Amino acid sequence: MEFKVTPIRNGTVIDHINCGQALNVLRILKINEYNVESTVSVLMHVPSKKMGWKDVVKVEDRELDRNTVDKIALIAPKATIDIIRDFSVAEKSNVMLSERVVGLVRCGNPNCITNKNEPVSPEFDVDNHDPPILRCIYCDRILDNITENLI
Ligand SMILES: Nc1ncnc2c1ncn2[C@@H]1O[C@H](COP(=O)(O)OP(=O)(O)OP(=O)(O)O)[C@@H](O)[C@H]1O
Ligand SMILES: [Mg+2]
Ligand SMILES: [Zn+2]
Repeated sequence: MEFKVTPIRNGTVIDHINCGQALNVLRILKINEYNVESTVSVLMHVPSKKMGWKDVVKVEDRELDRNTVDKIALIAPKATIDIIRDFSVAEKSNVMLSERVVGLVRCGNPNCITNKNEPVSPEFDVDNHDPPILRCIYCDRILDNITENLI
């Protein structure tokens, strides 16, 4: 196996990220210059047999919760989540969106009930998984820019 970056002992590799989405994955992980506490490797524009080009993010000493994985599915529907334990891949899974996306993204329609200070969580039907197409169950509008509306 060839390594372009230092192998991690324990942590998570988010592989097969759509090219160009690595920095948005870091946003979802809430990793920034002020709070990074473990080694994070970001590979952009890596050749991939499966998808031509891809991005990869590797985070030491962290496993991802369900909400975080579901948000990644919204911007990188082909992503695989590899849990690394003691330097090897212990678990591998594909991100998967359920039929309904609840509380992960805001509706883009300012007049939607979910943007009116009512106690209503934004909720979307998943019309398509890859690329993800979300339709608000309240105002029926398709969400144009998922990345900009992530909660
Ligand atoms: N200890 C480690 N530290 C950092 N990255 C690792 C480590 N072990 C594996 N990886 C990375 O995790 C990903 C999955 O590893 P694996 O060996 O399953 O690759 P693969 O056979 O190409 O899998 P896939 O079919 O999912 O592409 C690869 O991107 C690999 O570089
Ligand atoms: Mg591979
Ligand atoms: Zn709406």
